[in-house]
Amino acid sequence: MIGTEQAVGVIGAGTMGAGIAQIAATQGHKVVVCDSNRDMLSKLKPGLEKIFSRLIEKGRMTAADSQAALERIALAESPSQCADCALVIEAIVENVDVKQNVFKQLEAVVSETTLLASNTSSLPISEIAAACERPERVLGIHFFNPAPLLPLVEIVPGLLSSKSAVESAKQTIDAWGKTTVLAKDTPGFIVNRIARPYYGEALRIFEEGAATPATIDWAMKELGGFKMGPFELMDLIGNDINNKVSETVFAAFYFDPRYRPSLYQKRLVQAGLLGRKSGRGFYDYSEGAEKPEAVKDEGLGNSILFRIVSMLINEAADALFWGVASAGDIELAMTKGVNYPKGLLRWGDELGPENVLKEIETLQHRFGEDRYRPSPFLRAQVEQSEPLLGTTC
Ligand SMILES: NC(=O)c1ccc[n+]([C@@H]2O[C@H](COP(=O)([O-])OP(=O)(O)OC[C@H]3O[C@@H](n4cnc5c(N)ncnc54)[C@H](O)[C@@H]3O)[C@@H](O)[C@H]2O)c1
Repeated sequence: MIGTEQAVGVIGAGTMGAGIAQIAATQGHKVVVCDSNRDMLSKLKPGLEKIFSRLIEKGRMTAADSQAALERIALAESPSQCADCALVIEAIVENVDVKQNVFKQLEAVVSETTLLASNTSSLPISEIAAACERPERVLGIHFFNPAPLLPLVEIVPGLLSSKSAVESAKQTIDAWGKTTVLAKDTPGFIVNRIARPYYGEALRIFEEGAATPATIDWAMKELGGFKMGPFELMDLIGNDINNKVSETVFAAFYFDPRYRPSLYQKRLVQAGLLGRKSGRGFYDYSEGAEKPEAVKDEGLGNSILFRIVSMLINEAADALFWGVASAGDIELAMTKGVNYPKGLLRWGDELGPENVLKEIETLQHRFGEDRYRPSPFLRAQVEQSEPLLGTTC
């Protein structure tokens, strides 16, 4: 484990890097934040000062702690200034060549025992590690946005990561007060894989003309207990970002139809209708714009909810089948990483695995698409009259 007396490096002072630096500095580490863009570096401390002053106003931080945390942060323009760090977390542009180059530069200066981690959302850890002489010390430490607020962190060993590197990273992030889960180095890891149908199936229902975004959002929130409906959420994340994740996961699975992205969302992106940040996406955010009314028909709403939740449960069952994570970690990831109202395997047990299987088979029959392929694990549990979650977690 990396003790607070040891320094932590953060490469990238953007959205994620700034959040990770905030966490490490408030935990007592000296932090070296490196960015190739001077503007980004110069914005880092003023940005953190603002966040800290809000925390001080709310009584969640003292002025002295804020001052001390800011003083622990050093700014750097080159990764070579991370030479004394015991852990370096990279959070730069999502491009494997650029990341590999940074890892090579880091390896040339850090000690033999320094852990090198990537915060990548979609690139294979094993491929990033392949650029290193010591791939055993490379792994994924995947925070969610906003990193200081969301508790979940996915720890992702590459094929060559050593047990001790993974254990040390896990213990360190746990000590930072985060909830860690262990994910296999597969596309989307746990959360970004299992959550795909929340968007994808909602988009399908809309594209079929069965319901409007307002009605689908209403069903998922009011009847399902989700904090945000899929369309509000896509508009918040940004349709460009959300569509990019869908396209990346789809391509990474060799174009498995289960993950096929939506043409409609692609058109939104091409039209510049990115969501909240551009003023319009599925909804219009301009001043005075009328919010469309949902059709609050409980029968329709429950059928939408059941279809989307069944697809999510099937995806969670499949992730378990393929060993992406343990059942307990899958449940934790979806409740702590994306705030789902319940773990999906437990939800499947409550709904009855046989009913979920029937829904997926009905969709498969109706559309004739492999997209609606039941997971072998879901089918096996139904055939053996066993629950999805079992009693061990
Ligand atoms: N934004 C999210 O919601 C989110 C969530 C989880 C993980 N991630 C991952 O985190 C990483 C960073 O994402 P972000 O949203 O913070 O990006 P961002 O664009 O906000 O910040 C990236 C920063 O990296 C800097 N940078 C680029 N190339 C560099 C280099 N070679 N050396 C040093 N600095 C360099 C840029 O100047 C920029 O400041 C990506 O891998 C992304 O997939 C993002």
